[in-house]
Amino acid sequence: MEFGWELGRQPVEGSGEIAVSQNVSPVRTTDLKAMKARGEKIAMLTAYDALMARLLDRAGVDVLLVGDSVGMVLLGYETTIPVTLEDMIRHTQAVVRGVRRALVVADMPFLTCHTSLDDAVRSAGRLVQQGGAHAVKVEGGGSVVPVVRRLVDAGIPVMGHLGLTPQRVHQLGGFRTQARSAEEAEALMTDAAALERAGVFALVLEAIPSGLARRVTQTAGVPTIGIGAGPHCDGQVLVTHDALGLTDGAPSFVKHYARLADAMVEAVTGYVSDVKAGAFPSATRSRGDAREEES
Ligand code: KIV
Repeated sequence: MEFGWELGRQPVEGSGEIAVSQNVSPVRTTDLKAMKARGEKIAMLTAYDALMARLLDRAGVDVLLVGDSVGMVLLGYETTIPVTLEDMIRHTQAVVRGVRRALVVADMPFLTCHTSLDDAVRSAGRLVQQGGAHAVKVEGGGSVVPVVRRLVDAGIPVMGHLGLTPQRVHQLGGFRTQARSAEEAEALMTDAAALERAGVFALVLEAIPSGLARRVTQTAGVPTIGIGAGPHCDGQVLVTHDALGLTDGAPSFVKHYARLADAMVEAVTGYVSDVKAGAFPSATRSRGDAREEES
């Protein structure tokens, strides 16, 4: 059954928004498989708050990932490891509030999959039940297969994540390309197949050679979403703040679709100099005066 969303707005002419009809069908996990089957690429981006989620959703992004990259992008951590389940729930709630169409996937943060299967179900359950996520993402290969199976059994859709898995940054020796050797490539192929059998509905492939990403994509029955994995995946994901030029030191594979940091610094520099010069606010912009005039 299709549930339409009654939208209280029309597309803004010339704004670059996708043509939004009155009824928008939310993207579901099952839609992604259909998109792979018909060769339609999947556009995924990260989001951590309602404002950004609303804008990305309006622009037609299919999947919003509440990534634990929130720790590095917004919270100022060096890695994703300090991010807690409470952080993820709070940010997921915010993103869900901003979304009408996109599928919202929330990252299972560090260690939430590794203490016990029951703990994993409880943590994923909170992301779905309290956070409002439509699915969770789990980093790792063979070792997380039992977790994936258990979550899927519990009715929680799971996205897998292979290649560079940032929660293992200390084990991997840094944020670097993975599966370069033939042996590692075969291990990744085996992991991808095992995750698919366990029931993932899609697989993120991060920082692996593009030839290997193509092999996984051709072999897997579920969609692959690449990041730093070349053009052959069924979809692509980027950290939004990297793509919009808000962060320093984005990885070299990132295309900058805007330079918002520069635009923001320029705008705020203008504000600071106006305030210092007494040029803002002008008399007509003073609310107090306006109220006095009204009364
Ligand atoms: O946390 C994140 O943003 C991610 C993406 C980079 C895939 O896992």
